[in-house]
Amino acid sequence: MNIDLSAHRRRFLDYVDGFRDVPDAAPLRLKVEHTLRVVEHAEAVVDSLAGDHAERAWALCDDACRAAVLAALYHDCGRFPQFRQFRTFLDAKSVNHAELSFRTMRDEGFLKDEKPRVAHLACCAVLLHNRYALSPMLSRQARFVTDVVRDSDKLDIFRVMVGYLDNALPERDAVLLHVKDDPGLWTPKVAEDVLAGRVARYTDLRFVNDFRLLLGTWMHELRFAATRRALAESGLMEKVLEGLPDEPGLRAAREKLHAMLEDCRSGRGAND
Ligand SMILES: [Fe+2]
Repeated sequence: MNIDLSAHRRRFLDYVDGFRDVPDAAPLRLKVEHTLRVVEHAEAVVDSLAGDHAERAWALCDDACRAAVLAALYHDCGRFPQFRQFRTFLDAKSVNHAELSFRTMRDEGFLKDEKPRVAHLACCAVLLHNRYALSPMLSRQARFVTDVVRDSDKLDIFRVMVGYLDNALPERDAVLLHVKDDPGLWTPKVAEDVLAGRVARYTDLRFVNDFRLLLGTWMHELRFAATRRALAESGLMEKVLEGLPDEPGLRAAREKLHAMLEDCRSGRGAND
């Protein structure tokens, strides 16, 4: 599917250029990289569904697909004013960045040239992309567009996090949201989330190992076969899991995560 985003890419890059004078802006440069990769993943999801069987037509109309890649492009635009004002990406200590992205899109008129339906679906996905859970009341198309962004976002966050889990880089603290780096410790509640089939909550994280477990629990809700396979083929999840301590108390959670990874690889568990 050919979706021309060139004007929007320029618009997004012009927008972020307005933040070039923010001091210590390395985390913001990472957000630009992250955004462009999320767009690539969203395009891959949309392409993977094109030409598939007919009952998927509700998801594959041009409007929903265009909305999905636009939402991917703008989903984190609120990160820039968030960091400029609060010097953190921690929503709990600043502002809900998805709501700020939504307001920024509206105030900057990013989607002013789009069809109202496309703009509505894209705004909905941006607003909901970081919710812990989505309402069952969402329309199927809104759910589809939002899930494309959420899957694509997670796929790139895996890459970012693995880089920071393995390297002591200056931005590491900001990326790891200030959890403690004690290689032998984890939070039992987060390990329970793995076993219960729940996605762990950011607010429960205390140690770097909790981050590893959280990333593992995201496999519970990756929806599209394309993103699930891409994760398995990237080798990133193996890296996340191999850093977990080899402790008896964590064995069941580790085994469950490895089994989930095999499901991703084999195409089981997708819901597209
Ligand atoms: Fe986000």
